Amino acid sequence: MSLAVVTGGAGSIGAVIARRLADAGHRVCVADLDPDRARAVAAELPGEHVSFGGDLSDEPTVIELARTVDALAPVTVLVNAAGISPKGPAGKLEIDEIDASGLMAVLRANTVGPFLVSTHLARQMPTDGTASIVNILSIATRMATGGRRDAVFPPFIPSASHYAASKAALHNLQVSMCRELAPRRIRVNGVAPGFIATAMNRNIADGERASVVRQIPLGRAGTPEDVADAVEFLAGPRASYITGAVLDVNGGWLPA
Ligand SMILES: NC(=O)c1ccc[n+]([C@@H]2O[C@H](COP(=O)([O-])OP(=O)(O)OC[C@H]3O[C@@H](n4cnc5c(N)ncnc54)[C@H](O)[C@@H]3O)[C@@H](O)[C@H]2O)c1
Repeated sequence: MSLAVVTGGAGSIGAVIARRLADAGHRVCVADLDPDRARAVAAELPGEHVSFGGDLSDEPTVIELARTVDALAPVTVLVNAAGISPKGPAGKLEIDEIDASGLMAVLRANTVGPFLVSTHLARQMPTDGTASIVNILSIATRMATGGRRDAVFPPFIPSASHYAASKAALHNLQVSMCRELAPRRIRVNGVAPGFIATAMNRNIADGERASVVRQIPLGRAGTPEDVADAVEFLAGPRASYITGAVLDVNGGWLPA
């Protein structure tokens, strides 16, 4: 049986992706900074699954993850869903509220971590065309952030500038990886959610939340299930000729 590794698998979106991949027949490794929540998510999945706890932006920890999963089964799916999106007491952090250590922490979690996990696990993925990587990017990858809270265009996105930059850097790495891993027949794609109702957004001020939902043509926040649908498609055989793509899951929030 093949293995699907979901980083951030104990989080709101990651846990739903883990469940979806388990339902699709994968054995799942739920990997997360929080070992207890990772264990709990794995235990609730139907069938035999595993968990891994540790900071996946730390290379020795990533090497340990690679060793652990290598002993279990070939990894055919990696979903990089681990990430952080720091908020302030008033919601979105402004540029003047971000210092060097805040910037580095976000780049480490959202860019360095997925890069390390992808490169280490790709070394042991099968080269028969069955393996793929899906990064959870963000609408902020292309739109950056900022703008007026009553804006329609450019849209007001309640993520901070360092978050947007970290996801843009991950997207750029994804493009290189899709080309460099293509000879090994490993596909690398991304899903770019818009505004998803999760714990990550719980500190957004009510006014910001209303402003965002007003901008979304489909008139609602997304759900982790909406994101999991896109991940399942990109990770699976029906996407066998798709690599380097980004699938927007945002209710039409992003202008063409
Ligand atoms: N919620 C949204 O609106 C939204 C929008 C766009 C993109 N995203 C992205 O989707 C992904 C999941 O977000 P979520 O809303 O489920 O957030 P969440 O906070 O519920 O989950 C994130 C998970 O990542 C884990 N994590 C963070 N840093 C880690 C590290 N260094 N090593 C291992 N695990 C780590 C956390 O412990 C947490 O369980 C993130 O990458 C996020 O940036 C979310």
